[in-house]
Amino acid sequence: QFTDLRAHEILDSRGRPTLAVTVSRGARHATASVPSGASTGRHEAHELRDDDSARYGGAGVLTAIGSVNGELRELLCGRPWHELSGVDSAMRDLDGTPNLSRLGANAVIGVSMAVARLLADADELPLWTWLRVSGATARLPVPHFNVLNGGVHARTALAFQEFMIAPLGARSMGDAIRAGAEIYRALRGLLTDAGHSVGLGDEGGFAPEFTQPEDVLRLLVRAIEEAGYPAGLDAVAIALDPAASQFCQPDGSYVVGGHRHSATELVQRYVEMVRDFPIWSIEDGMAEDDDAGWQEITDELGEHVQLVGDDNFVTNPALIARGADAGIANAALIKPNQIGTVTETLAAIRVCRDRGYRQMISHRSGETCDDFIADLAVGTGCGQLKAGAPARGERVAKYNRLMMIDTACAGLPYGIPADARSTPGR
Ligand code: PGA
Ligand code: ZN
Repeated sequence: QFTDLRAHEILDSRGRPTLAVTVSRGARHATASVPSGASTGRHEAHELRDDDSARYGGAGVLTAIGSVNGELRELLCGRPWHELSGVDSAMRDLDGTPNLSRLGANAVIGVSMAVARLLADADELPLWTWLRVSGATARLPVPHFNVLNGGVHARTALAFQEFMIAPLGARSMGDAIRAGAEIYRALRGLLTDAGHSVGLGDEGGFAPEFTQPEDVLRLLVRAIEEAGYPAGLDAVAIALDPAASQFCQPDGSYVVGGHRHSATELVQRYVEMVRDFPIWSIEDGMAEDDDAGWQEITDELGEHVQLVGDDNFVTNPALIARGADAGIANAALIKPNQIGTVTETLAAIRVCRDRGYRQMISHRSGETCDDFIADLAVGTGCGQLKAGAPARGERVAKYNRLMMIDTACAGLPYGIPADARSTPGR
């Protein structure tokens, strides 16, 4: 039986308000705080904002906090709950809308994460051992460090949103984190030498004025090598999240670095990038509604490259299953606040596993120092986590948690599970 449930307003990494939720059972307390995206898919669960322009330009979350302190508190306190799935489905029933727009998905996911923490604590288990998907074994994920930001996370002339480095071939978690930090440092040096700004974007990556993605890729390979690592699919590879919905035009064309492309031309541009650079994964290469474009990129590259659906799948088990039926993408991004409960997040991972789709657990561009997703990535054994640059508190909170788990539990394997890795090894 939960004895108390409370939320209050805190700031996220962009200085916008969000919720911290604390659930109590007697002397036991657990807190979770809620992230927020900027390049969101249209079918994400609804983040409830106050729309009161007198506070935070309308971005306040007092209404969502009211849901926690009012209806959700009444629902959860005072009767016995044993399972997170029961709590999550009761919250969804109480909300009564398909996208949690009445109580607010930001309220519901905060409660769900806090309850998961409390139940794990009550079982005297670390969160990562408690967050399980049947058939999966725990492992440490390959960190995907977003070292150079564009798109809506930087508002420069660079259309592509995220350029990540992925130490696929590292021998351990510690080696992977070290590679990320050393390459980030080398990249900073190269940017400085070339007279570029080393100011940062929303996810802690550098945000210099580049226009062509190929120029960035060339620089990344130099940074990887300058830091003393081989750039390659079995060493340090590159992952992209162009977030193409953001540069897709109303007529269905795509504008990248001043060039207007049809979907077919954009796919061919990716094919050339994959040929010229050690790219192992592309997320949202096509816009969320461009089914034909997704089909095309999957046909062209799906055999060799991980193709991750984010804006189109929005961590929704039904949408992932539909994508798998259509043969679109071969992996899904997993963001708990996109779907609204931890139970449904685990269900989305289960659908991926059943359909042979890989999974990458993900932060949001607006983050807090909550490290829930690090435990989620380890517990579900998916092998991949993206949490931004190896810099800035809200990003390193996740990577530091991975290092803590690694130290506390020696012997956990690192990397992408062998069965899930067969496709992208050219
Ligand atoms: P967001 O973007 O958190 O700003 O929505 C992250 C992503 O596109 O993966
Ligand atoms: Zn994305």
